[in-house]
Amino acid sequence: MKEDRTYIGLMDVLAANFDVMYGSGIRGHEMTLFEMHLPKPPARVLDVGCGTGRLLPWLSHMGYSVVGLEPSMEMDKMCKRRIKDDSLESVYSEKTEFLNSQLESESFDAVLMLGNLLGSIESRGITQNFLREAKRLLVPDGVFLVDASNIMYCGSILKCYQSMARHHMRFGDTVETVAVKGRDYRFFNHFFNVWDLSRRLSGMGFEVRGVYGADSIYKNGKLVCGARKYFMNPFFIAAFNSPY
Ligand SMILES: C[S@@+](CC[C@H](N)C(=O)[O-])C[C@H]1O[C@@H](n2cnc3c(N)ncnc32)[C@H](O)[C@@H]1O
Repeated sequence: MKEDRTYIGLMDVLAANFDVMYGSGIRGHEMTLFEMHLPKPPARVLDVGCGTGRLLPWLSHMGYSVVGLEPSMEMDKMCKRRIKDDSLESVYSEKTEFLNSQLESESFDAVLMLGNLLGSIESRGITQNFLREAKRLLVPDGVFLVDASNIMYCGSILKCYQSMARHHMRFGDTVETVAVKGRDYRFFNHFFNVWDLSRRLSGMGFEVRGVYGADSIYKNGKLVCGARKYFMNPFFIAAFNSPY
């Protein structure tokens, strides 16, 4: 079989160590945002690109009914093992790509797209299809939570200029080569700015509920979501209400 050196191929080779590299559970800022924006349990939550399923135990323990979608075979295996080992009731995962899922329209109260999935999509048209699909699956007034790399973060601006010079791409795009076990994997990333992402979603009728700099939401026990925070943060998370 031909080796897949694309993003999904990279996820396959990273799967076994993914939790060690990126953390195996929900992060503090995610918990805060979930508590702020997710509809109350037992709401139905879709975790798109659920990876190894690091968000599933928390969601399950809170009483949500959860579906996780994951196209990488190795990630999906890790996720299914977690569901079994942790006896996660009310959680189901499927090895599939988001746009092929065959899920019914308006079958979720919330859709999560976390871990920079949106930025890894190379085509603008497919990004739009992802947003349209999230909208289709959400009930009226459902909640869409998405995170993205932040172009305003100075390191990322530099990367974008370097990539443009090398690959003749639009501003915001980067292409990197990541070496794993001696093999190179191509890794695309689009860095968003807050207005770009908000405009794309509001163009589809979503309403912006909030944009936050990840990792800087809590300070001294208080919620911090000022503009400076999301300008300077490498990632931001945005919450949207679906149209109704
Ligand atoms: C960086 S990981 C984040 C995983 C998880 N959401 C987290 O936050 O830990 C992005 C995930 O999206 C998955 N993914 C990539 N393309 C996808 C697609 N078309 N549909 C659904 N998931 C996809 C990848 O396989 C990968 O597991």
